[in-house]
Amino acid sequence: MKEIIRLREVNKTFTSEKGHNIEALQDINLSIEESQFICLLGPSGSGKSTLLRLMAGLMDASEGEVEVMGKSIKKPISEASMVFQEYSLLPWRNIIDNVAFGLEVRKVPKKEGYAIARNILGKFGLEGFEKNYPYELSGGMQQRAAIARAMAVSPEILYMDEPFGALDAHTRLQMQQELISFWLKDKRTIVFVTHSVEEAIFLGTRIIVMSSRPGRIIEDFQIDLPYPRDRWSGKFGHYFNRLMDLMNGKSSITEEYSEVYNQCNNL
Ligand SMILES: Nc1ncnc2c1ncn2[C@@H]1O[C@H](COP(=O)(O)OP(=O)(O)OP(=O)(O)O)[C@@H](O)[C@H]1O
Ligand SMILES: [Mg+2]
Repeated sequence: MKEIIRLREVNKTFTSEKGHNIEALQDINLSIEESQFICLLGPSGSGKSTLLRLMAGLMDASEGEVEVMGKSIKKPISEASMVFQEYSLLPWRNIIDNVAFGLEVRKVPKKEGYAIARNILGKFGLEGFEKNYPYELSGGMQQRAAIARAMAVSPEILYMDEPFGALDAHTRLQMQQELISFWLKDKRTIVFVTHSVEEAIFLGTRIIVMSSRPGRIIEDFQIDLPYPRDRWSGKFGHYFNRLMDLMNGKSSITEEYSEVYNQCNNL
């Protein structure tokens, strides 16, 4: 398969306002092949968002190289889109104008663009809210609209930074299904950040595990399970235990898993 993203010997150090150096990423070597669904998993502060921003061309590495589609990346490219960890809609545009925005930029005819936007908003349960402004929507609804906007342009690469973090457990499960359907349809590359072990195994073809600061890659493996995935299969449990051992005693993850577990039992 063709390589689409490549990082060589990447380090990223921030300097805080007080002048201290914060080493966020250390010795990152990574090759991502196209059509893969990559999950970046790690505890808070392990540099997941930083790594995603480097790949998206939103910031530069302190050392090393980041190549996307065969070229060193210096700024965001039109072949990629991003869902940020914080809601990121344009506040002066209503929801459908937000979702159609990327299509407009890519010169898709207006009628076609709005038909695509309406369709995707319907899939994400936002039908009837097309003309509302972001401030009129709940946090979870805004995040669904931001995801719709990123997907509407059918990007070659979709970067997603904990996109489902703010959603209630039931909506989160629905959005995971939608994302899998979107990915299975034309297998674009997805790089998906999460701190949820269960979510990573449900979604990814490959999981890259980061250590706490400074973020390094401590594990990298394929998930050999067919889609749609069964959370209750023995193999799923096997991956889950292996990853939990790696993440070792991160109680927030255990709590989150038990929440999803309870929600699934209530469905
Ligand atoms: N702009 C910045 N200036 C200074 N330090 C930063 C900046 N961005 C990130 N950092 C630091 O780099 C480290 C990694 O941050 P990052 O946001 O990449 O972690 P993360 O794995 O995404 O965490 P979370 O799961 O909480 O979102 C942290 O220690 C953070 O304080
Ligand atoms: Mg983050």
